[in-house]
Order: sequence, then C-alpha cells, then structure tokens
Amino acid sequence: MDTARRTHSFTESVIRGMTRLAAEHGAINLAQGFPDFPAPDTLKEAAAAAIRADINQYAITWGAKRLRDAVARKYAEWYAMEVNPETELTVTCGATEAMATVLLALVDPGEEVVVFEPFYENYGPDAILCDARPVFVPLLPGQPLDLDRLGAACSSRTRAIVINTPGNPSGRVLTRAELEGIAALCHRHDAWAVTDEIYEHIRYQGEHIPIATLPGMRERTVTISGASKTFSITGWRIGTIVAPAGITGAIRKVHDFLTVGAPAPLQEGLAVAMETLGPEFYRGLAGEYRQRRDVIMEALAGAGFRAVAPEGAYYVLADFSELSELPAPEFARWLTIEGGIATVPGTSFFSRPEDGTRFTRFAFCKTLDLLRDAAGRLTTLQKVRVRS
Ligand SMILES: Cc1ncc(COP(=O)(O)O)c(C=O)c1O
Repeated sequence: MDTARRTHSFTESVIRGMTRLAAEHGAINLAQGFPDFPAPDTLKEAAAAAIRADINQYAITWGAKRLRDAVARKYAEWYAMEVNPETELTVTCGATEAMATVLLALVDPGEEVVVFEPFYENYGPDAILCDARPVFVPLLPGQPLDLDRLGAACSSRTRAIVINTPGNPSGRVLTRAELEGIAALCHRHDAWAVTDEIYEHIRYQGEHIPIATLPGMRERTVTISGASKTFSITGWRIGTIVAPAGITGAIRKVHDFLTVGAPAPLQEGLAVAMETLGPEFYRGLAGEYRQRRDVIMEALAGAGFRAVAPEGAYYVLADFSELSELPAPEFARWLTIEGGIATVPGTSFFSRPEDGTRFTRFAFCKTLDLLRDAAGRLTTLQKVRVRS
C-alpha cells in the first residue's frame, strides 16, 4: 500500500475537530486535553530568560544537553532507573512525535502492533504510517486487563505492545501484575514494550510503575513521556524517549528527519524547571487534579451519566445511555451546541465505533471555576433536552 492510500485509511482527528466546534458555538471545551490554567512561573521565567539570552538556534537534534541531563536525573530519582543521557535519551516535539518516531524506527511493514482500546487516537494511525497492522485488545475503565485475551492477540508477527499508563481515556493505572503479564508476553514473542507515560504524575490511586523497571524489560522497552501534562504546557511541544542505546541511533535518525528538534529556548526553560521544582510541585499537581476529578464526577452522576472514576490521567469516559439514545457523534454535537459543553464521542476511541457509541469523553484539565460552570450546565441538561 502506498503512503497516500495509507493516510486515507484514517480520518482526521475528531478531538481537534470538537475543539473547533466548541469555538464555533461558544461551548466549554472539555473535549481536547489541554489545561486552561497557567504554567509554573519558574518555567515561564526560565524560558523567557533563554529567549533573552538568544538561545534561538537549533538545539542538538536529540535534545539540549541540560534537558537530557535533567530527564536522566528524573528517571534515577523517581524510579531508580539509570538512563544514559548521551546514548539513551531523545527529546522530541511532544509525546505525539515520540510515538510516531519510535514506531517508524522499530516496526517493519506487515508487522503487528498491539494497541489497547479505548485508545489515544494517534496510536492506530501511527501503526498504519509504518504500514503495520494495529491489533486491538480491550482495556476498559475500572476493569482489569484480560491477559488471556492479550496473549491470544500476540503472535510471531507482533513487533510491539503499546502501553499507556495512566491511560487516556480508560483512566486505568496498570498494576504490577498487569505489567508483569505484558512483560512476559514481550519476552515470549520477542516484542517491544512501547509505553506512553505522559500522565505519570497525574494519579489518584495506585503506583506508577514504568514497565522498563521490571526485570529484563529495560532492554526491550521504549519509554515515552513529556512536559505537556506535568507542566501544563501542551503548546510547547516537548516530549522524551528513553530507549536502549542499540536502537536510540535509529530513533534519533527518524526524529532528525521528521522535525530536526524541539524548540531550543523552551528546552532550556524546561530543564531549569525540572532542576528547581521539588516533590511538593508534583504532589500539588496530583492534589489539584483530584479536586477537579471529584467536581466532574459528582456533576456527571447528578446529570444521569454513568462513569467509573479514573485512577489516573484527566479524562472520564461517561456512559450517556440513560440521557439519550443518540449515537455518540450526534450526542457530542448536541451536547456542544445545545448543552454548551464540548466532549469527544466515544466512537473515536474504539476500533469498532459501535463499541464506543454510548460513551462520551470529558477532559477535566480545567480550572475549578470552569468545571463548576460546566457542572451547572450539566445540571440543566434535562431541561435543555426537553426544549430541543
Ligand atoms: C496518551 C497521550 N499521549 C500523548 C499525548 C500528547 O502528548 P504531547 O502533547 O506531548 O504530544 C496525549 C495528549 O492528549 C495523550 O493523551
């Protein structure tokens, strides 16, 4: 299949489309996962200082040294994971580029990539860009990973299992036992674990365990993370890849030809923030998100949605079937235009759209004020529905 035909086999991003619809109708945007509150001052001041110091030119393509050192220290301090910043770390334009780059570096045409669903919408298209086949395995909110089903989905064609913990939109934080099960399958099928841990610091229960820290997994794991969610800077476009030195060369080549590098002064700013911000910053982040989660969960229950409280990340996949019989895309449109709240239809997160047709996804990375406003609109939903 040639590239042009490959790219036609997936649709444009529904998430970004819902953001446009929200703007058109003046709806509160709980669709796309970007925060509406300020980033830490330390970070902004350090980036501004870097621009004033004329750090304006290309950084080293695989990442500014100061940032790679800070990221390596993070892995050592948080997870006792030794990372060589010279040979095992690559800085990218966000976790989004990181995932595409890693799969392009690792996966050959015709191979298979296991993706859990509901999924973050980029993973399937990333596999298709490699001319590989995504194979989907359920991992639903509040439910354990079915390791037998995962085992049945793996074969000699499996090149990688894509993991996302804490998960968007499942809200699952994978347990050690689940990760051990995945690790065993990676060993059995000689497959890579490619893990997107961008929500590592946004957790309400459980422990964040990088699968790379499990015995024998460091050499077959690629760990992706980034600054978008932890520092509330989705527009800065900084992501990171930790991979064994043996494949980092290939990853860096793909990254170099795709983007050359992430923005130089912003890398410097992030490095300073990572050096400066202590554990209280990360505790504060999780604590504030817990409050936001509680506000949205209460509002959803009050309005007649059914949903499992997420264990991590900042999304709720809510079942609206007691409110409406519309299919998810129409319900999300209606909720945006008539209810004043933009969400993402559940159909966007499943390989078989019918599996997501009763769900819509709320992102709660917003100020408490905005979430309370949204809660008020949810409370009046029934009335809006009667009028519509
Ligand atoms: C699971 C997951 N990975 C990656 C991203 C994007 O990260 P970045 O902004 O670093 O590209 C998102 C954003 O919503 C996400 O939910």
